[in-house]
Amino acid sequence: MEAIERYLEHFEKTIADLQGKLILDVGTGYPLFAMECAEQNIARVVALEKNFESFGLARNSLAAKEFCLAIGCAEQLPFTDEMFELVITLFSVPILCQIEKNVSHTINEMCRVAKPGGEIWLAPLERPDLPELNEWIKVKLTALGNNRNYLLREGNMSKEIAGIPGSLREFKYCVIKKL
Ligand SMILES: C[S@@+](CC[C@H](N)C(=O)[O-])C[C@H]1O[C@@H](n2cnc3c(N)ncnc32)[C@H](O)[C@@H]1O
Repeated sequence: MEAIERYLEHFEKTIADLQGKLILDVGTGYPLFAMECAEQNIARVVALEKNFESFGLARNSLAAKEFCLAIGCAEQLPFTDEMFELVITLFSVPILCQIEKNVSHTINEMCRVAKPGGEIWLAPLERPDLPELNEWIKVKLTALGNNRNYLLREGNMSKEIAGIPGSLREFKYCVIKKL
């Protein structure tokens, strides 16, 4: 499955939701999503990773492509406020955050770099093996939901999730609109 198709399917979104936007993909891994968006002229994506090695051969194709690779940590994003129309994190943070303050910092940071009117897409919201982590994410999103500058909508991810424990169950995503 193409990366774009996979990203959109998990968040129940369409190509129109990406079109023409400046997007930040946090914890991108190999930056297929950014590369496909550039190749298909859909959007400009900044692919952020903490691990330089994850970019692999994609590093060599930079000159020819309309995307950007960035090294940094989700907990302290190396970008100014309100830069991006869309900020995405899929199968990375917050489910890889191992301590409570990292969950909170990551979500704060994603909100900070999103433009007003923009969105933050976050999924999945839980890890079956780490109930404590699930609770931190829930508490953080509840607090954000009570903030009148944000509008939250949760939904069910596509069930076809390769490589994570319990993948036949329903996982949730959250779309946060920054007002
Ligand atoms: C499962 S992979 C990438 C998933 C990719 N978004 C996708 O759906 O194909 C998760 C990535 O998140 C990165 N990552 C984990 N914690 C991070 C953090 N705190 N800041 C930035 N990247 C992080 C890891 O290095 C890893 O490459």
